[in-house]
Order: sequence, then structure tokens, then C-alpha cells
Amino acid sequence: MSGNKVTVLDVQQAKENGRKLVMVTAYDYPFGLMADQAGVDIVLVGDSLGMVVMGLDGTVEVTMEHMIHHTRAVVRGCQNPLVVGDMPFMSYNTGIRDAIINAGRLMKEGGCDVVKLEGGVDFAPTVNAIVKAGIPVQGHIGLTPQTASALGGFKMQGKDVAAAKKIIDDARALENAGVFSIILEAVPAPLGKLVAEAVKVPVIGIGAGSDVDGQVLVTHDMIGLFDKFIPKFVKQYANIRETIIEAIGEYKKDVQEIKFPAAEHSFKMPAETLEQLIKNQK
Ligand code: KIV
Repeated sequence: MSGNKVTVLDVQQAKENGRKLVMVTAYDYPFGLMADQAGVDIVLVGDSLGMVVMGLDGTVEVTMEHMIHHTRAVVRGCQNPLVVGDMPFMSYNTGIRDAIINAGRLMKEGGCDVVKLEGGVDFAPTVNAIVKAGIPVQGHIGLTPQTASALGGFKMQGKDVAAAKKIIDDARALENAGVFSIILEAVPAPLGKLVAEAVKVPVIGIGAGSDVDGQVLVTHDMIGLFDKFIPKFVKQYANIRETIIEAIGEYKKDVQEIKFPAAEHSFKMPAETLEQLIKNQK
């Protein structure tokens, strides 16, 4: 293992040193490897894989088996980044014992360094129990996609004073429960700043403005690989979908026009062997 492996301690120190943390999602080996080569701090094997890889409408159907399978693949590509395994819906909601067992499975069978789960005050005891079992936990508050239907859809959270105060309370409760970091999703930018100031652990935003301690984006959104919608908080850095469609289209044309495979893509056979083969066939 390289000496540049990012640890939970490095993540915590980044906030103390005022260094912004960079986090992206990955769901397989090539994307894990590319995120590693781009030099990000943290790679999240997010349950967003349900939407951007499996074509589901949300994250609710994602299972422990899906998460373990994809986490194992990402881990093989990630030498340096801290790898976060996302705990799927109902893997930690049914009780503390289930939560510890499933967090342990994600780490032991998936190979991730830490786990993430959604929820604030209500899930603080669960977080605390997982941390006490020796598994570092990243919290996730604000818009929590697994319970988006209860929140009225994939919408900005913390709109009024009470809702905003609840999110600050969630962050404090998670910090007291022992999280090493918190993901804050889809809140007004000024609330993002207040949450980051309210806790000592790094707050990594996704649609939470720039005054937080780092940023995370779903890679497939950022590089234009997901076709269904682009959330307001996403900046598209590339349009890989178009490049891929163009490449497959060119391949199709080449096959149909017998331009592929060309001589350089074909295996040769000595003329003698071919001659003998043809003779022997008769
Ligand atoms: O699953 C995921 O990709 C996430 C990010 C939105 C933070 O939880």
C-alpha cells in the first residue's frame, strides 16, 4: 500500500488546516482508478449507483449485496483515496444490531475504509454504536435521498428557520455521536456555512454552497454520463455520453462497411499452413 493513503485523521486535519476536501463517487474499478489518478481525497461508493448505474428511479431498491459487489470493484482501483461504502436503505434502519452487522459486512466483504449512512438526531445512537464497534462513520444530512419521499421529493432542505435549525441540530448530534465527517446535501448556501461553523468535523457539501469544508459530486452527473436529469448543484465538466455514443456509432458504421477489423486487428496464418488446411479439408 502506498504511503499516500488518505486516512480519517487526514480528513479531520484538512478542516483544521483550511484545506478543502475533494470527494467523488465511483461504482466500479475503472472509475475508482481514475478518481485515484486524479488525486481526490475521498471516493464514495454511493447508493446513487441505483440511479446512475442500475437505471432505477431512486436508491431505495439498492441492497447490501449490490453495495458489497460494487465496493469491492472500486477498492481494487483506489490505492490512495479513503473509500466510503454507503449503507443502503434498511441496512441500518431496523435496529442497532443490524446496523453494526451490515456496517461490518460492508467493510469486511466490500473492503471499504469507512461507511456512510443517512440521518441526523434520530440516527445518532446507531452512529455511536457503529463507531464504538470500531467502524468510522460519515453522516449524511439535509436532503437524504433514501427518505426523499418523506421529505417531499428531491428538493432543497432547510427552507424555514425551524427546518434549518433542525439541520444544525442534526450536525451537532452526529458530531457528538462520533462521525468523522458529514455530507450536507441540497441546502441554501448560507445554511451550509452555518453548519460547517457549528461543528469541528469536516462538512462536505453537495449543493450546500462553497463555505463548507469540501465538495462531493456524483461523477456520472459531473461528466455527463447520466441521461435522466442534472441537479441544479451539478457543474458538468465533460460530456462523456456523447463521446461514447459517437464512438459506438463509428464502430457500427465501420462494421457495416467492412472497414473493421482491418489487417492490423487480425491474426495472421502462414500461407503454407493455410494451403495445407485447405487441401486437408477436401
Ligand atoms: O449515494 C450518493 O452518491 C451520495 C451522494 C449524493 C453524496 O450519497
